[in-house]
Amino acid sequence: MSTTFQLDTSTSRANPTPAPMKRLTVPELRQRKADGVTQMPIVMLTAYTARQAQLLDAHCDLLLVGDSLGQVIYGLASSVPVTLDMMIAHGAAVVRGSYHAAVIVDMPFGTYEASPEIAFASAARIMKETGCAGVKLEGGEAMAATVAFLIRRGIPVMGHVGLTPQAVNVLGGYNARGRSDAEAETILADARALDTAGAFAVVIEGVVEPIAIAITQAIACPAIGIGASAQCDGQVLVTDDMLGMFDRVPRFVKVYENIAETIGSAAARYAEDVRQRTFPGIEQTYQPRKI
Ligand code: KIV
Repeated sequence: MSTTFQLDTSTSRANPTPAPMKRLTVPELRQRKADGVTQMPIVMLTAYTARQAQLLDAHCDLLLVGDSLGQVIYGLASSVPVTLDMMIAHGAAVVRGSYHAAVIVDMPFGTYEASPEIAFASAARIMKETGCAGVKLEGGEAMAATVAFLIRRGIPVMGHVGLTPQAVNVLGGYNARGRSDAEAETILADARALDTAGAFAVVIEGVVEPIAIAITQAIACPAIGIGASAQCDGQVLVTDDMLGMFDRVPRFVKVYENIAETIGSAAARYAEDVRQRTFPGIEQTYQPRKI
């Protein structure tokens, strides 16, 4: 049973629950784009933990529990080994830590591709056990029937085309997509197929800018870019990348902080306190009884 919907903060380090407010909904976000125009770009960041969600929530329209947690949290080489249980545990934590943004959880590799029925079983588990607003899956035309199947059964779906990291073994790496005419046509067709199938938004990752712009103009639902174009209807980044947690980030990432340096410096000062025995103790506020 999910414990997502109640958070007793009285005994926990978690933030006090903020004043209850209505979460953004998937239909509201879908409607941000009307007649091909998105007045207010959609802000999306990844989140994997409750505390991260608490800090990001007020600034974001969407929090994505991305399967990038495989690399970012678990130190895996790719997102391929990520499991449904991992996504559900982190998805529930992010829902618990947020109250404003709509939370979308990635469907991990191997949990949706084989058939619409298998996809439904996996997505239903994610929805029931996390309380999230919808799921994201990778793939274009090949997944369109599955996307329509899920939506008809009550599961909002975000698509993901272009550089699809779960397909790294087929693509042969994480290089930008859409450089040849044939590849550009395929990605455009993929995005169109997801849009027609009813996806409420489509992530366009690692696609050369003219193709990203063409897709943004071609689809009715919002196109969320990552390493694509500022002209997309919204943007997403891996939060740990933009915070400067890693030495190596994709070239397109704008790094806003150097959190790795801050953590390293704090740990060094802590270590110094411990070794110099200057670690603060607890003040004595009572007289010990003489025995
Ligand atoms: O897994 C992830 O974080 C993602 C984003 C990079 C779009 O899919």
